[in-house]
Amino acid sequence: MQSHLLSIIYLIGSVSFIMGMKMMGNAKTARKGNLVGAAGMTLAIVGTIVLHEGEVSPVIYGLILLAILIGTIVGWMTAKKVQMTKMPELVSIFNGMGGACAALISLIEFNHTKHTTHIMEVVEHIIPSDGIAPGTFFCILAGLIIGSISFSGSIIAFLKLNGTLDKPVRLPKYNIINTIFLIAIVAFAAYLFKVETPTLVYALFAMSLLYGVMFVLPIGGADMPVVISLLNSFTGVAAAFGGFLYGNYVMLTGGILVGSAGTLLTIVMCEAMNRPLFNVIFGAFGGGAASAEGTSEKGTIKDISVADTATLMNYSKRVVIVPGYGLAVAQAQHVIHELEMILEERGVEVKYAIHPVAGRMPGHMNVLLAESNVDYGKLVEMDDINPEFPNTDVVLVVGANDVVNPAAKTDPSSPIYGMPILDVENAKHIIINKRSMNAGYAGIDNLLFYNPKNSMLFGDAKKVLTELVAELKTM
Ligand code: TAP
Repeated sequence: MQSHLLSIIYLIGSVSFIMGMKMMGNAKTARKGNLVGAAGMTLAIVGTIVLHEGEVSPVIYGLILLAILIGTIVGWMTAKKVQMTKMPELVSIFNGMGGACAALISLIEFNHTKHTTHIMEVVEHIIPSDGIAPGTFFCILAGLIIGSISFSGSIIAFLKLNGTLDKPVRLPKYNIINTIFLIAIVAFAAYLFKVETPTLVYALFAMSLLYGVMFVLPIGGADMPVVISLLNSFTGVAAAFGGFLYGNYVMLTGGILVGSAGTLLTIVMCEAMNRPLFNVIFGAFGGGAASAEGTSEKGTIKDISVADTATLMNYSKRVVIVPGYGLAVAQAQHVIHELEMILEERGVEVKYAIHPVAGRMPGHMNVLLAESNVDYGKLVEMDDINPEFPNTDVVLVVGANDVVNPAAKTDPSSPIYGMPILDVENAKHIIINKRSMNAGYAGIDNLLFYNPKNSMLFGDAKKVLTELVAELKTM
Protein backbone atom coordinates (compact mmCIF):
# COMPACT_ATOMS: atom_id res chain seq x y z
CA MET A 1 0.00 0.00 0.00
CA GLN A 2 2.77 2.38 1.10
CA SER A 3 4.81 1.66 -2.00
CA HIS A 4 1.78 2.24 -4.25
CA LEU A 5 1.17 5.59 -2.62
CA LEU A 6 4.84 6.48 -3.08
CA SER A 7 4.64 5.52 -6.76
CA ILE A 8 1.65 7.84 -7.19
CA ILE A 9 3.54 10.65 -5.44
CA TYR A 10 6.53 10.10 -7.73
CA LEU A 11 4.24 10.18 -10.74
CA ILE A 12 2.74 13.51 -9.59
CA GLY A 13 6.28 14.81 -8.94
CA SER A 14 7.48 13.78 -12.41
CA VAL A 15 4.44 15.31 -14.14
CA SER A 16 4.89 18.58 -12.22
CA PHE A 17 8.55 18.77 -13.34
CA ILE A 18 7.48 18.40 -16.95
CA MET A 19 4.63 20.91 -16.59
CA GLY A 20 6.86 23.35 -14.73
CA MET A 21 9.49 23.13 -17.44
CA LYS A 22 6.91 23.73 -20.17
CA MET A 23 5.63 26.80 -18.30
CA MET A 24 9.17 28.14 -18.02
CA GLY A 25 9.25 28.42 -21.81
CA ASN A 26 7.10 31.55 -21.61
CA ALA A 27 7.96 34.70 -19.63
CA LYS A 28 4.37 35.10 -18.44
CA THR A 29 4.14 31.63 -16.90
CA ALA A 30 7.82 31.10 -15.97
CA ARG A 31 7.48 32.13 -12.32
CA LYS A 32 4.49 29.84 -11.82
CA GLY A 33 6.32 27.04 -13.65
CA ASN A 34 9.21 27.32 -11.21
CA LEU A 35 6.78 27.00 -8.28
CA VAL A 36 5.02 24.01 -9.85
CA GLY A 37 8.36 22.20 -10.26
CA ALA A 38 9.43 23.09 -6.71
CA ALA A 39 6.09 21.85 -5.31
CA GLY A 40 6.56 18.53 -7.14
CA MET A 41 10.05 18.19 -5.69
CA THR A 42 8.83 18.99 -2.15
CA LEU A 43 6.10 16.37 -2.49
CA ALA A 44 8.62 13.78 -3.68
CA ILE A 45 11.02 14.53 -0.80
CA VAL A 46 8.29 14.41 1.86
CA GLY A 47 6.86 11.22 0.33
CA THR A 48 10.27 9.53 0.32
CA ILE A 49 10.93 10.40 3.96
CA VAL A 50 7.48 9.55 5.31
CA LEU A 51 6.74 6.47 3.23
CA HIS A 52 10.21 4.97 3.32
CA GLU A 53 10.13 1.19 3.72
CA GLY A 54 11.93 -0.39 6.68
CA GLU A 55 13.00 0.91 10.07
CA VAL A 56 14.74 4.27 10.27
CA SER A 57 16.06 5.53 13.60
CA PRO A 58 14.79 8.90 14.89
CA VAL A 59 18.39 10.17 14.83
CA ILE A 60 18.49 9.68 11.06
CA TYR A 61 15.19 11.56 10.67
CA GLY A 62 16.62 14.34 12.83
CA LEU A 63 19.75 14.54 10.68
CA ILE A 64 17.70 14.62 7.47
CA LEU A 65 15.54 17.44 8.78
CA LEU A 66 18.60 19.36 9.94
CA ALA A 67 20.22 19.00 6.50
CA ILE A 68 17.00 20.16 4.79
CA LEU A 69 16.76 23.13 7.14
CA ILE A 70 20.38 24.23 6.57
CA GLY A 71 20.06 23.73 2.80
CA THR A 72 16.79 25.65 2.64
CA ILE A 73 18.07 28.61 4.65
CA VAL A 74 21.37 28.89 2.77
CA GLY A 75 19.71 28.39 -0.65
CA TRP A 76 16.88 30.84 0.08
CA MET A 77 19.15 33.59 1.40
CA THR A 78 21.69 33.26 -1.42
CA ALA A 79 19.03 33.23 -4.15
CA LYS A 80 17.24 36.23 -2.61
CA LYS A 81 20.43 38.31 -2.42
CA VAL A 82 21.97 37.46 -5.79
CA GLN A 83 22.11 40.13 -8.49
CA MET A 84 20.90 39.24 -11.96
CA THR A 85 24.41 39.58 -13.45
CA LYS A 86 25.71 37.09 -10.86
CA MET A 87 23.13 34.45 -11.78
CA PRO A 88 25.56 32.24 -13.76
CA GLU A 89 27.77 32.08 -10.60
CA LEU A 90 24.81 30.98 -8.50
CA VAL A 91 23.79 28.36 -11.05
CA SER A 92 27.35 27.02 -11.16
CA ILE A 93 27.60 26.59 -7.39
CA PHE A 94 24.12 25.02 -7.12
CA ASN A 95 24.98 22.73 -10.01
CA GLY A 96 28.23 21.75 -8.28
CA MET A 97 26.20 20.73 -5.21
CA GLY A 98 24.02 18.49 -7.42
CA GLY A 99 27.12 16.82 -8.88
CA ALA A 100 28.58 16.33 -5.38
CA CYS A 101 25.33 14.67 -4.23
CA ALA A 102 25.38 12.26 -7.16
CA ALA A 103 29.03 11.38 -6.48
CA LEU A 104 28.40 10.88 -2.74
CA ILE A 105 25.40 8.65 -3.46
CA SER A 106 27.66 6.47 -5.60
CA LEU A 107 30.38 6.30 -2.94
CA ILE A 108 27.90 5.37 -0.22
CA GLU A 109 25.99 2.92 -2.38
CA PHE A 110 29.16 1.15 -3.43
CA ASN A 111 30.00 0.29 0.17
CA HIS A 112 26.37 -0.35 1.03
CA THR A 113 25.74 -2.63 -1.94
CA LYS A 114 29.06 -4.40 -1.51
CA HIS A 115 28.15 -5.37 2.05
CA THR A 116 24.52 -6.28 1.40
CA THR A 117 23.69 -9.82 0.42
CA HIS A 118 21.34 -9.82 -2.54
CA ILE A 119 19.54 -13.00 -1.56
CA MET A 120 17.09 -13.01 -4.45
CA GLU A 121 19.71 -12.22 -7.05
CA VAL A 122 22.05 -14.85 -5.61
CA VAL A 123 19.27 -17.42 -5.48
CA GLU A 124 18.37 -16.66 -9.07
CA HIS A 125 22.07 -16.89 -10.06
CA ILE A 126 22.02 -13.35 -11.42
CA ILE A 127 25.18 -12.52 -9.51
CA PRO A 128 27.73 -14.47 -7.52
CA SER A 129 27.08 -14.37 -3.77
CA ASP A 130 29.80 -11.79 -3.07
CA GLY A 131 29.39 -9.52 -6.10
CA ILE A 132 27.46 -6.41 -7.08
CA ALA A 133 24.89 -6.74 -9.87
CA PRO A 134 26.53 -5.42 -13.09
CA GLY A 135 23.75 -2.90 -13.81
CA THR A 136 23.94 -1.52 -10.27
CA PHE A 137 27.72 -1.31 -10.42
CA PHE A 138 27.64 0.43 -13.77
CA CYS A 139 25.22 3.07 -12.38
CA ILE A 140 27.43 3.56 -9.31
CA LEU A 141 30.59 4.08 -11.34
CA ALA A 142 28.97 6.29 -13.99
CA GLY A 143 27.27 8.44 -11.31
CA LEU A 144 30.58 8.71 -9.42
CA ILE A 145 32.64 9.78 -12.44
CA ILE A 146 30.12 12.20 -13.98
CA GLY A 147 28.98 13.68 -10.64
CA SER A 148 32.58 14.29 -9.49
CA ILE A 149 33.57 15.94 -12.79
CA SER A 150 30.49 18.14 -12.57
CA PHE A 151 31.24 19.10 -8.95
CA SER A 152 34.90 20.08 -9.31
CA GLY A 153 34.32 21.61 -12.78
CA SER A 154 31.48 23.77 -11.43
CA ILE A 155 33.62 25.01 -8.55
CA ILE A 156 36.35 26.08 -11.00
CA ALA A 157 33.68 27.73 -13.21
CA PHE A 158 32.37 29.58 -10.14
CA LEU A 159 35.88 30.81 -9.24
CA LYS A 160 36.42 31.99 -12.81
CA LEU A 161 33.14 33.85 -12.93
CA ASN A 162 33.70 35.65 -9.64
CA GLY A 163 37.18 36.68 -10.79
CA THR A 164 39.23 34.59 -8.33
CA LEU A 165 40.70 32.60 -11.23
CA ASP A 166 40.80 35.28 -13.87
CA LYS A 167 43.16 33.71 -16.43
CA PRO A 168 42.79 30.43 -18.33
CA VAL A 169 45.54 28.01 -17.17
CA ARG A 170 46.72 25.96 -20.12
CA LEU A 171 49.38 23.25 -19.90
CA PRO A 172 51.21 22.64 -23.18
CA LYS A 173 49.08 20.20 -25.25
CA TYR A 174 46.43 20.37 -22.54
CA ASN A 175 43.70 18.99 -24.80
CA ILE A 176 45.74 15.86 -25.56
CA ILE A 177 46.61 15.42 -21.87
CA ASN A 178 42.95 15.81 -20.90
CA THR A 179 41.78 13.30 -23.50
CA ILE A 180 44.35 10.71 -22.38
CA PHE A 181 43.40 11.31 -18.74
CA LEU A 182 39.70 10.78 -19.53
CA ILE A 183 40.49 7.51 -21.34
CA ALA A 184 42.56 6.46 -18.29
CA ILE A 185 39.57 7.15 -16.01
CA VAL A 186 37.27 5.01 -18.15
CA ALA A 187 39.88 2.20 -18.30
CA PHE A 188 40.37 2.38 -14.53
CA ALA A 189 36.59 2.18 -14.00
CA ALA A 190 36.46 -0.91 -16.25
CA TYR A 191 39.21 -2.52 -14.14
CA LEU A 192 37.31 -1.63 -10.98
CA PHE A 193 34.23 -3.22 -12.47
CA LYS A 194 36.19 -6.47 -12.44
CA VAL A 195 37.94 -6.29 -9.08
CA GLU A 196 35.39 -4.30 -6.99
CA THR A 197 38.09 -3.15 -4.56
CA PRO A 198 36.62 -0.56 -2.13
CA THR A 199 39.76 1.56 -1.76
CA LEU A 200 40.11 1.88 -5.53
CA VAL A 201 36.68 3.51 -5.70
CA TYR A 202 38.14 6.43 -3.74
CA ALA A 203 41.00 6.60 -6.24
CA LEU A 204 38.44 6.82 -9.07
CA PHE A 205 36.64 9.57 -7.14
CA ALA A 206 39.90 11.55 -6.79
CA MET A 207 40.81 11.06 -10.47
CA SER A 208 37.38 12.27 -11.60
CA LEU A 209 37.59 15.34 -9.36
CA LEU A 210 40.99 16.15 -10.83
CA TYR A 211 39.66 15.71 -14.36
CA GLY A 212 36.83 18.19 -13.64
CA VAL A 213 39.47 20.77 -12.65
CA MET A 214 41.66 20.04 -15.68
CA PHE A 215 38.63 20.17 -18.00
CA VAL A 216 37.45 23.65 -16.96
CA LEU A 217 40.74 25.34 -16.00
CA PRO A 218 41.96 26.00 -19.58
CA ILE A 219 38.64 27.49 -20.75
CA GLY A 220 38.34 31.30 -20.82
CA GLY A 221 36.20 32.91 -18.09
CA ALA A 222 33.82 34.42 -20.62
CA ASP A 223 32.92 30.97 -21.96
CA MET A 224 31.80 29.84 -18.52
CA PRO A 225 28.03 30.19 -19.18
CA VAL A 226 28.34 27.56 -21.93
CA VAL A 227 30.53 25.35 -19.73
CA ILE A 228 28.09 25.66 -16.81
CA SER A 229 25.22 24.62 -19.02
CA LEU A 230 27.28 21.61 -20.15
CA LEU A 231 28.17 20.71 -16.55
CA ASN A 232 24.49 21.13 -15.71
CA SER A 233 23.66 18.40 -18.20
CA PHE A 234 26.38 16.20 -16.60
CA THR A 235 24.74 16.63 -13.19
CA GLY A 236 21.37 15.65 -14.68
CA VAL A 237 22.84 12.48 -16.17
CA ALA A 238 24.60 11.63 -12.87
CA ALA A 239 21.30 12.11 -10.99
CA ALA A 240 19.51 9.91 -13.54
CA PHE A 241 22.01 7.11 -12.78
CA GLY A 242 21.04 7.59 -9.10
CA GLY A 243 17.42 7.15 -10.19
CA PHE A 244 18.28 3.83 -11.86
CA LEU A 245 20.23 2.79 -8.78
CA TYR A 246 17.31 3.28 -6.42
CA GLY A 247 14.56 2.50 -8.92
CA ASN A 248 13.34 6.01 -8.08
CA TYR A 249 11.30 7.35 -11.00
CA VAL A 250 11.14 10.95 -9.86
CA MET A 251 14.93 11.11 -9.59
CA LEU A 252 15.19 9.46 -12.98
CA THR A 253 12.75 11.88 -14.63
CA GLY A 254 14.34 14.92 -12.94
CA GLY A 255 17.82 13.78 -13.97
CA ILE A 256 16.80 13.13 -17.57
CA LEU A 257 15.05 16.52 -17.79
CA VAL A 258 18.07 18.38 -16.40
CA GLY A 259 20.42 16.36 -18.60
CA SER A 260 18.50 16.98 -21.81
CA ALA A 261 17.66 20.63 -21.02
CA GLY A 262 21.34 21.33 -20.23
CA THR A 263 22.46 19.66 -23.45
CA LEU A 264 19.91 21.58 -25.55
CA LEU A 265 20.84 24.88 -23.90
CA THR A 266 24.53 24.23 -24.59
CA ILE A 267 23.75 23.56 -28.26
CA VAL A 268 21.51 26.65 -28.54
CA MET A 269 24.17 28.92 -26.99
CA CYS A 270 26.89 27.54 -29.25
CA GLU A 271 24.68 27.95 -32.32
CA ALA A 272 23.76 31.54 -31.41
CA MET A 273 27.48 32.35 -31.05
CA ASN A 274 28.20 30.34 -34.21
CA ARG A 275 30.87 28.35 -32.40
CA PRO A 276 31.06 24.55 -32.24
CA LEU A 277 31.19 23.16 -28.69
CA PHE A 278 34.60 21.69 -29.54
CA ASN A 279 35.85 25.24 -30.10
CA VAL A 280 34.46 26.41 -26.73
CA ILE A 281 36.21 23.54 -24.91
CA PHE A 282 39.47 23.52 -26.83
CA GLY A 283 39.58 27.03 -28.33
CA ALA A 284 41.30 30.06 -26.85
CA PHE A 285 38.37 32.42 -27.39
CA GLY A 286 36.96 34.65 -24.67
CA GLY A 287 40.09 35.33 -22.63
CA GLY A 288 38.91 38.93 -22.47
CA ALA A 289 41.95 40.65 -24.00
CA ALA A 290 41.10 43.83 -25.84
CA SER A 291 42.44 44.32 -29.34
CA ALA A 292 45.88 45.86 -29.41
CA GLU A 293 45.49 47.21 -32.92
CA GLY A 294 45.94 50.93 -33.49
CA THR A 295 42.90 52.95 -34.35
CA SER A 296 44.43 55.23 -36.97
CA GLU A 297 43.18 53.43 -40.12
CA LYS A 298 39.72 52.77 -38.81
CA GLY A 299 38.32 56.25 -39.15
CA THR A 300 37.28 58.83 -36.65
CA ILE A 301 35.14 58.59 -33.56
CA LYS A 302 32.31 61.09 -33.20
CA ASP A 303 31.03 62.05 -29.74
CA ILE A 304 27.47 63.13 -29.04
CA SER A 305 26.15 65.01 -26.02
CA VAL A 306 23.14 64.03 -23.95
CA ALA A 307 21.31 67.17 -25.13
CA ASP A 308 21.87 66.36 -28.83
CA THR A 309 20.82 62.75 -28.27
CA ALA A 310 17.61 63.93 -26.58
CA THR A 311 16.81 66.28 -29.49
CA LEU A 312 17.47 63.57 -32.09
CA MET A 313 15.30 61.05 -30.30
CA ASN A 314 12.53 63.52 -29.52
CA TYR A 315 12.06 64.29 -33.21
CA SER A 316 12.30 60.69 -34.41
CA LYS A 317 9.40 58.53 -35.55
CA ARG A 318 10.96 55.16 -34.84
CA VAL A 319 13.58 54.32 -32.24
CA VAL A 320 15.06 50.88 -31.59
CA ILE A 321 16.94 50.23 -28.35
CA VAL A 322 19.60 47.50 -28.40
CA PRO A 323 20.29 46.36 -24.83
CA GLY A 324 23.46 44.44 -23.98
CA TYR A 325 25.56 43.22 -21.11
CA GLY A 326 26.47 46.79 -20.02
CA LEU A 327 22.79 47.60 -19.39
CA ALA A 328 22.68 44.73 -16.90
CA VAL A 329 25.97 45.76 -15.27
CA ALA A 330 24.75 49.34 -14.86
CA GLN A 331 21.33 48.13 -13.62
CA ALA A 332 19.78 50.65 -15.99
CA GLN A 333 16.69 48.58 -16.86
CA HIS A 334 14.28 50.85 -14.95
CA VAL A 335 15.58 54.11 -16.41
CA ILE A 336 15.55 52.69 -19.93
CA HIS A 337 11.87 51.83 -19.47
CA GLU A 338 11.30 55.41 -18.31
CA LEU A 339 13.04 56.67 -21.46
CA GLU A 340 10.86 54.42 -23.60
CA MET A 341 7.66 55.70 -21.93
CA ILE A 342 8.61 59.37 -22.36
CA LEU A 343 9.37 58.83 -26.04
CA GLU A 344 6.12 56.92 -26.56
CA GLU A 345 4.20 59.79 -24.90
CA ARG A 346 5.73 62.06 -27.54
CA GLY A 347 4.48 59.77 -30.32
CA VAL A 348 7.81 58.02 -30.99
CA GLU A 349 7.48 54.29 -31.62
CA VAL A 350 10.01 52.42 -29.45
CA LYS A 351 11.04 48.77 -29.72
CA TYR A 352 13.80 46.70 -28.14
CA ALA A 353 15.99 44.51 -30.38
CA ILE A 354 16.82 41.29 -28.56
CA HIS A 355 19.87 39.31 -29.67
CA PRO A 356 19.79 35.67 -28.50
CA VAL A 357 23.18 35.90 -26.74
CA ALA A 358 23.12 39.52 -25.56
CA GLY A 359 24.29 39.63 -21.94
CA ARG A 360 25.80 36.64 -20.23
CA MET A 361 23.04 34.08 -19.95
CA PRO A 362 20.18 32.83 -22.07
CA GLY A 363 17.23 35.22 -21.99
CA HIS A 364 19.29 37.74 -19.98
CA MET A 365 17.79 40.82 -21.67
CA ASN A 366 14.23 39.46 -21.51
CA VAL A 367 14.55 38.82 -17.77
CA LEU A 368 16.21 42.18 -17.17
CA LEU A 369 13.57 44.18 -19.04
CA ALA A 370 10.72 42.14 -17.54
CA GLU A 371 12.08 43.25 -14.14
CA SER A 372 11.22 46.85 -15.03
CA ASN A 373 7.82 45.87 -16.49
CA VAL A 374 8.66 46.61 -20.12
CA ASP A 375 5.75 45.35 -22.23
CA TYR A 376 6.78 41.95 -23.56
CA GLY A 377 5.33 42.80 -26.98
CA LYS A 378 7.99 45.51 -27.38
CA LEU A 379 10.82 42.98 -27.28
CA VAL A 380 11.52 41.93 -30.85
CA GLU A 381 13.77 39.01 -31.72
CA MET A 382 16.76 39.50 -34.01
CA ASP A 383 15.30 37.89 -37.14
CA ASP A 384 12.15 40.01 -36.87
CA ILE A 385 13.81 43.36 -36.08
CA ASN A 386 16.62 43.17 -38.67
CA PRO A 387 14.35 44.01 -41.65
CA GLU A 388 13.02 47.02 -39.68
CA PHE A 389 16.35 48.84 -39.27
CA PRO A 390 16.22 50.66 -42.65
CA ASN A 391 13.00 52.34 -41.46
CA THR A 392 14.44 53.21 -38.06
CA ASP A 393 15.46 56.81 -37.33
CA VAL A 394 17.65 56.17 -34.31
CA VAL A 395 19.17 52.99 -32.90
CA LEU A 396 20.31 53.44 -29.32
CA VAL A 397 22.81 50.71 -28.39
CA VAL A 398 23.16 50.51 -24.63
CA GLY A 399 26.07 48.47 -23.24
CA ALA A 400 26.06 46.10 -26.21
CA ASN A 401 29.09 45.47 -28.36
CA ASP A 402 29.66 42.04 -29.93
CA VAL A 403 26.00 41.59 -30.89
CA VAL A 404 26.25 44.64 -33.20
CA ASN A 405 29.82 44.07 -34.44
CA PRO A 406 29.85 44.00 -38.29
CA ALA A 407 33.09 41.94 -38.21
CA ALA A 408 30.78 38.96 -37.73
CA LYS A 409 29.68 39.48 -41.34
CA THR A 410 32.71 41.01 -42.99
CA ASP A 411 35.90 39.67 -41.40
CA PRO A 412 36.50 35.91 -41.88
CA SER A 413 39.50 36.11 -39.53
CA SER A 414 37.36 37.42 -36.66
CA PRO A 415 36.55 34.99 -33.84
CA ILE A 416 32.89 35.99 -34.12
CA TYR A 417 32.74 35.57 -37.91
CA GLY A 418 29.46 33.89 -38.83
CA MET A 419 27.63 34.87 -35.64
CA PRO A 420 24.28 36.40 -36.65
CA ILE A 421 24.19 40.05 -35.50
CA LEU A 422 21.74 42.94 -35.28
CA ASP A 423 22.09 44.96 -38.52
CA VAL A 424 22.01 48.35 -36.77
CA GLU A 425 24.18 49.99 -39.44
CA ASN A 426 21.10 50.01 -41.70
CA ALA A 427 19.36 52.57 -39.46
CA LYS A 428 19.55 56.32 -40.21
CA HIS A 429 21.44 57.21 -37.01
CA ILE A 430 23.31 55.01 -34.54
CA ILE A 431 24.11 56.10 -30.99
CA ILE A 432 26.26 53.80 -28.90
CA ASN A 433 26.36 54.22 -25.15
CA LYS A 434 29.29 52.62 -23.32
CA ARG A 435 31.96 53.87 -20.96
CA SER A 436 35.03 53.64 -23.18
CA MET A 437 36.41 52.12 -26.39
CA ASN A 438 36.99 48.84 -24.56
CA ALA A 439 36.10 45.55 -26.21
CA GLY A 440 33.23 43.34 -25.16
CA TYR A 441 33.15 39.63 -24.38
CA ALA A 442 34.97 38.48 -27.51
CA GLY A 443 37.85 40.87 -26.84
CA ILE A 444 37.80 42.37 -30.34
CA ASP A 445 37.55 45.83 -31.83
CA ASN A 446 34.24 47.02 -33.26
CA LEU A 447 34.36 48.96 -36.54
CA LEU A 448 30.79 50.11 -36.02
CA PHE A 449 32.18 52.76 -33.63
CA TYR A 450 33.88 54.38 -36.66
CA ASN A 451 30.83 54.22 -38.93
CA PRO A 452 30.04 57.79 -40.18
CA LYS A 453 26.41 57.28 -39.11
CA ASN A 454 27.49 56.47 -35.56
CA SER A 455 28.02 58.73 -32.54
CA MET A 456 29.40 57.61 -29.20
CA LEU A 457 27.56 58.61 -26.05
CA PHE A 458 30.21 57.82 -23.47
CA GLY A 459 29.42 57.14 -19.82
CA ASP A 460 27.86 54.65 -17.43
CA ALA A 461 24.50 53.53 -18.87
CA LYS A 462 22.46 54.37 -15.76
CA LYS A 463 24.00 57.82 -15.38
CA VAL A 464 23.73 58.73 -19.05
CA LEU A 465 20.17 57.45 -19.43
CA THR A 466 19.07 59.30 -16.29
CA GLU A 467 20.49 62.52 -17.76
CA LEU A 468 18.81 61.75 -21.08
CA VAL A 469 15.43 61.30 -19.40
CA ALA A 470 15.91 64.56 -17.48
CA GLU A 471 16.83 66.36 -20.70
CA LEU A 472 13.79 64.99 -22.56
CA LYS A 473 11.52 66.16 -19.73
CA THR A 474 12.67 69.72 -20.34
CA MET A 475 11.69 69.56 -24.02
P1 TAP B 1 29.56 42.61 -24.85
O1 TAP B 1 29.99 42.34 -26.21
O2 TAP B 1 30.20 41.84 -23.75
O3 TAP B 1 29.74 44.17 -24.60
C1 TAP B 1 29.27 44.78 -23.45
C2 TAP B 1 29.74 46.21 -23.46
O4 TAP B 1 29.10 46.86 -22.37
C3 TAP B 1 31.23 46.38 -23.24
O5 TAP B 1 31.89 46.65 -24.44
C4 TAP B 1 31.34 47.50 -22.20
O6 TAP B 1 32.11 48.57 -22.74
C5 TAP B 1 29.92 47.95 -21.99
N1 TAP B 1 29.62 48.24 -20.58
C6 TAP B 1 30.02 47.56 -19.49
N2 TAP B 1 29.58 48.17 -18.38
C7 TAP B 1 28.87 49.26 -18.78
C8 TAP B 1 28.18 50.28 -18.09
N3 TAP B 1 28.13 50.32 -16.75
N4 TAP B 1 27.57 51.24 -18.82
C9 TAP B 1 27.63 51.22 -20.18
N5 TAP B 1 28.29 50.27 -20.87
C10 TAP B 1 28.90 49.30 -20.19
O7 TAP B 1 27.99 42.40 -24.66
P2 TAP B 1 26.86 41.99 -25.68
O8 TAP B 1 26.89 42.85 -26.89
O9 TAP B 1 25.63 41.89 -24.87
O10 TAP B 1 27.29 40.56 -26.19
C11 TAP B 1 27.25 39.42 -25.37
C12 TAP B 1 28.50 38.63 -25.58
O11 TAP B 1 28.55 37.62 -24.56
C13 TAP B 1 28.51 37.91 -26.92
O12 TAP B 1 29.81 37.88 -27.45
C14 TAP B 1 28.05 36.50 -26.56
O13 TAP B 1 28.53 35.53 -27.46
C15 TAP B 1 28.68 36.36 -25.19
N6 TAP B 1 28.04 35.31 -24.38
C16 TAP B 1 26.72 35.37 -24.19
C17 TAP B 1 26.12 34.35 -23.49
C18 TAP B 1 24.64 34.38 -23.34
S1 TAP B 1 23.89 32.99 -23.22
N7 TAP B 1 24.00 35.52 -23.33
C19 TAP B 1 26.85 33.32 -22.94
C20 TAP B 1 28.23 33.33 -23.13
C21 TAP B 1 28.81 34.34 -23.84
P3 TAP B 1 32.84 49.61 -21.75
O14 TAP B 1 33.70 48.82 -20.86
O15 TAP B 1 33.57 50.52 -22.67
O16 TAP B 1 31.75 50.34 -21.01
